[in-house]
Amino acid sequence: MKLNVVLSGGESRSYEVMCESGLHRRLDRIIKDLSRGRRVFCVWDRFVHGLWGHRCLTATESIVWDASEQNKKLSAVEELARELVRRGADRHSLLVAVGGGVTGDVVGFLASIYMRGIPVVQIPTTLVAQVDSSVGGKTGVDLPEGKNLLGTFHQPLWVGIDPDFLQTLSEENFREGMAEVIKTAWIGDADLVRFLLDNSDDILRRRADVMAHVVFRCVEIKAGIVMEDEKEGGVRKVLNLGHTFGHAVERISNYTINHGHAVAMGLICAGILGRQLGYLDREHLNMLKDLLSAYGLPTGLPSEYSPDKMMSVFQADKKKVGNSLVFVIPGPPGKVIWKTIEDKKLIDEVIRLAQKIGKIYLT
Ligand SMILES: NC(=O)c1ccc[n+]([C@@H]2O[C@H](COP(=O)([O-])OP(=O)(O)OC[C@H]3O[C@@H](n4cnc5c(N)ncnc54)[C@H](O)[C@@H]3O)[C@@H](O)[C@H]2O)c1
Ligand SMILES: [Zn+2]
Repeated sequence: MKLNVVLSGGESRSYEVMCESGLHRRLDRIIKDLSRGRRVFCVWDRFVHGLWGHRCLTATESIVWDASEQNKKLSAVEELARELVRRGADRHSLLVAVGGGVTGDVVGFLASIYMRGIPVVQIPTTLVAQVDSSVGGKTGVDLPEGKNLLGTFHQPLWVGIDPDFLQTLSEENFREGMAEVIKTAWIGDADLVRFLLDNSDDILRRRADVMAHVVFRCVEIKAGIVMEDEKEGGVRKVLNLGHTFGHAVERISNYTINHGHAVAMGLICAGILGRQLGYLDREHLNMLKDLLSAYGLPTGLPSEYSPDKMMSVFQADKKKVGNSLVFVIPGPPGKVIWKTIEDKKLIDEVIRLAQKIGKIYLT
């Protein structure tokens, strides 16, 4: 399965995303064709290289790095850049990022600034990276003050997605990715929401053909949105569904809660907000809960995330985004809107209800 991400600014800025089981075996050939004689450097997540390095891209020069959120920082970019210089990479070279979202973001960022910018191919190996970070061109690193505070938009030359990579993913990371899948499906496709509800066994078993369908559909949805609004001036905001509440949860937990779990909690909060505003009916809110529950994700907010704590994070965010906070609000599957909400009482109520819903569900 293939699709083209067509961006304004002409053909040179458009790229192909290919998604199929077994693609990893063809990557050397494909990348050789794409490189058109340029030198190619594959930057691998060290852990992924240990699992997959003998099975694919064996003909391409490799650099391994210790990928982790802690290491997603400017000094890692500098180290990789120096390694490239030592190996003779120049402004005609091509980088290939092989790993999860951390590797994609770091190598994408490196490519965007190395000798004023060289092309990058994304080979995402986690579910998060396959359905979310590899498409759309956002790159970046963290600062001690916050995540993704330094970054660029640098669209890839090509994206190659092989659901086979998901076979070796930890249960936790797979479920984390499912939170982003659910988010994407709810934004863009009622049929995919139904499919996720009806096929949870096969999906949790990571059946390659089923995963290829799910991942490809998510990429189509995300690519459709990115094509409309590459730099998040408008509609791309909908991709933040569940993330405003989710980020507050992550912040309060001091990042001890993983992103997927936080997004799941955020989706429930957003769902309740939708219910309070009359965009989402009870049946669909229950459907959202069932969906999260089917994939072992939280369906409510633990009591330590009090309205006061959540509000103080929102206030801090508000200052950063120009004094108003935008919430993405789900309607029925396939429909979302975004809205600035100033009503503190409403948000307070939503958080209280999210805590109750979680408890009711657990009993
Ligand atoms: N650029 C964007 O638009 C965008 C979107 C969403 C998320 N992100 C970023 O993505 C990052 C999270 O991505 P992630 O969850 O992929 O994290 P990650 O890259 O840290 O990968 C998670 C873990 O899985 C391991 N791993 C990767 N592929 C594997 C495989 N096939 N088998 C076994 N283990 C494997 C990694 O070594 C790592 O330990 C965050 O930094 C986030 O900011 C970026
Ligand atoms: Zn996310």
